[in-house]
Amino acid sequence: MENNKMKILIIGSGGRENAIAYAVKKSKIETEIYCAPGNGGAETIAINVPIKQDDVKGLLDFALKNKIDLTVVGPEIPLSIGIADEFTSAGLKIFGPDKKAALLESSKKFSKDFLKKYNIKTAGYKSFDDLSEAENYVKNKPHPLVIKASGLAAGKGVFISKDAVESDKILKSILIDKIFGKSGETVVIEDYLDGFELSYMIVTDGISYKPLITSMDYKKIGDGDTGENTGGMGAVTPNPYVSEDLINKINKNVIEPTLEGLKKEGVKYKGVLYAGLIIKGEDIYVLEFNVRFGDPETQAILIRLESDIIELFLNVVNENLKDYKLIFDDNKSICLVLASGGYPKDYKTGYEIIFDKNLHHSGLFNKNGVEYYIFHAGTKITGGKYLTDGGRVLNICAKGKEKNIMQAVYGIAEMIDFKDKYYRKDIGKTLN
Ligand code: GLY
Repeated sequence: MENNKMKILIIGSGGRENAIAYAVKKSKIETEIYCAPGNGGAETIAINVPIKQDDVKGLLDFALKNKIDLTVVGPEIPLSIGIADEFTSAGLKIFGPDKKAALLESSKKFSKDFLKKYNIKTAGYKSFDDLSEAENYVKNKPHPLVIKASGLAAGKGVFISKDAVESDKILKSILIDKIFGKSGETVVIEDYLDGFELSYMIVTDGISYKPLITSMDYKKIGDGDTGENTGGMGAVTPNPYVSEDLINKINKNVIEPTLEGLKKEGVKYKGVLYAGLIIKGEDIYVLEFNVRFGDPETQAILIRLESDIIELFLNVVNENLKDYKLIFDDNKSICLVLASGGYPKDYKTGYEIIFDKNLHHSGLFNKNGVEYYIFHAGTKITGGKYLTDGGRVLNICAKGKEKNIMQAVYGIAEMIDFKDKYYRKDIGKTLN
């Protein structure tokens, strides 16, 4: 540490990474924050470093040269290509699991085989890399069926097919037309489960684990959960449908056997484990794992974090999590995503973002007694102006005891303008 400041590198450029940067800035430990590549909001609290998230060598060279004390990885891509392995081998501290552990997200085949091996409930499935074998299989299966590209596909690799004709089309597009490139070399075909969907996150140091507060993610583009799947159009905490009893069951039936299984596979998992679940009657099934914080759930979660996030990260990296107290406040919180019109399909960027003159542009503020935050996602600063630079552009978050936090974020959404601005109108309706 130079100048007694801890140097922190945050990898990624979304709202999640911007929220992590704000939580780091709030720490009692004095920090110098770098974001690679960061975004327009990160620029106001950190130094943006123009290195892409998948340039592991570039990131490692930067971290070594600049004596980075701790690196925090936001997205899955650098984890899936082994950034944690490279940093750890070079003697650097990094928050995020290694390449083998990241297979839980980067290979759906690996993750399903893992679940089966350790008797953790998941939908029945079979994997294929040959089209005619896959076609034969779907011919005799009742529909709907779920067809997934095994590799990473930015949330776009999951299809629900209504009949065998549609299944054939999907299989051809993945295995022959290669719409997902190498990520579609293998497909996983799963039985369709319907029930109540829920995501659940914990942090672990490979020895013990601590659950994060529960959250609810709004995945679809349209109001009332209609239309295309997206990365997430909003989130609330706590998840209004999750009881203590359910949390205990998830811990016992999913999280603990998963962590035990990882240990048996010789994997020391250090970071966040995100389980996408479906609840059907008394049964809890794992739909998928992510090996990182969810976005935008993290924005709604971290604004309620009372513990010092740097201490949390260090306790994970140093395998000291067991006696660590992870504390959140007892508010409710909400995150509303402002997106570029057209997202999650094609959209244009480069439009100027105009903030009302009474509104701050980034970070934490207080308006009429409500704490609110603006976290940037797809934005950049050019010539002193904020411009749109991605599908999900800004996250407006608020926390408080009452449902009025919903009105607060919607009020702020009206005070920010850019061409083709789009947002759902029902985020937080479930808050009570
Ligand atoms: N919001 C879903 C995800 O982060 O994958």
